[in-house]
Amino acid sequence: MNTKLRRPSVLGENDAHNSEQHRLLGLALDPLTTRHLAGTGVGPGWRCLEVGAGDGGVAAWLARRVAPSGSVLATDIRPVPMPAVEGLEFALHDIVRDPLPEAEFDLVHVRLVLRLLPERLAVLDRLVRALKPGGVLRIDEFDATDAPALSVPDPAAHDLYRAFLDAKAQIMTAGNVDMAWGSKAARAMRRAGLTGVSAHCHYEEWCAGSPGLPPHPAPAGPVPPRRDDRRAAGRGARAARPPRLPRPLLRDLFGPGPAPGGGLMTAPRIDLPAVAPDVYGAMANLTKAASAHLDPLLAELVRIRVSQINGCAFCLRLHTRAALDAGENETRLHELASWRDSTLFTAAERAALALAEAMTSLGPAGVADEVFTAAREHFAETPLAHLLWTIAAINAWNRIGITVFPPK
Ligand SMILES: C[S@@+](CC[C@H](N)C(=O)[O-])C[C@H]1O[C@@H](n2cnc3c(N)ncnc32)[C@H](O)[C@@H]1O
Repeated sequence: MNTKLRRPSVLGENDAHNSEQHRLLGLALDPLTTRHLAGTGVGPGWRCLEVGAGDGGVAAWLARRVAPSGSVLATDIRPVPMPAVEGLEFALHDIVRDPLPEAEFDLVHVRLVLRLLPERLAVLDRLVRALKPGGVLRIDEFDATDAPALSVPDPAAHDLYRAFLDAKAQIMTAGNVDMAWGSKAARAMRRAGLTGVSAHCHYEEWCAGSPGLPPHPAPAGPVPPRRDDRRAAGRGARAARPPRLPRPLLRDLFGPGPAPGGGLMTAPRIDLPAVAPDVYGAMANLTKAASAHLDPLLAELVRIRVSQINGCAFCLRLHTRAALDAGENETRLHELASWRDSTLFTAAERAALALAEAMTSLGPAGVADEVFTAAREHFAETPLAHLLWTIAAINAWNRIGITVFPPK
């Protein structure tokens, strides 16, 4: 399958923003998606199609699941730097127009794509035809018609949030996005001839700092001119003004919210994603590429340990949540700071943690030979390289987080 890029998405054309958005969508949604996919019985030998693959996280999960005899075709209208997993193939492909084989797949999965496409019903028919007899189609979608702010610091923040939702709805509707598609999909699947269709609703409160929040502000086209939304929120929203569009990334990622100590994050000293978006995007890409060959749980353990040493509350909160979402055991997280005294960590994890500590608290002697050699004993060359970059990347994020957000 090959195609030219020709259908711009309502989600905008900014690559750095898109890749960060996909990374955060993966962090927020993959645990839920993979839990449901596991329930389909997908396993060795299955042939799967992942449409609109985003950051490729679900496709990679599927590929590991169907190995060694199965395979996964991940498609997207844009190039996606796919994780290197055996049995996983990527094709640039427009699901609306490009040829799609029929009766080919045991499982077709599509998340947050059909709502974007005015031709969603026709695409649904194509996806059904792509299934083998007895195959499974899974659609994960939002119904974004109601997104109440369940807890906000003050009435002005509530008004600002409503104004943001209204503006988002206007943009989405103008871009032909069906905001209510999540509630319509099951009926459409039955109409498309599928049997045994069942729908499950999931409702979750996202607080400041949740990976689920930043992907939300997705202005179509260029980022709007700079405005200080946070100061405006403090003064109260003004009815006469057009709704403000919060900008993506750091402002939202580091927005006010409960810090682990119970206080609030302070306002940033500099709005880095706005001032230097290329660098921010490059860092996001580095972070993703750095851990592509690492076990996700190990990568989170390392990020948490480094953030503990550096004292970055924001990164601790983000990565502790990501670790729990990825299935990490709570007791291990409690004992992580004293892993040397704990029996809960494997020899490979201990080697990785020792390396992370040595690279983070660099003394005049640098990283001792025995620390590096121990890591080498447990990690092949490529994962070891990825471990080194993961440690380096989280150190960079910690230093930025701590510098940009002054202590209260
Ligand atoms: C909101 S993102 C969702 C990404 C991913 N499925 C997830 O849930 O994390 C929508 C994805 O659909 C892709 N997309 C949009 N239109 C498409 C089309 N016509 N054919 C294939 N992919 C498309 C976008 O490039 C983007 O990666």
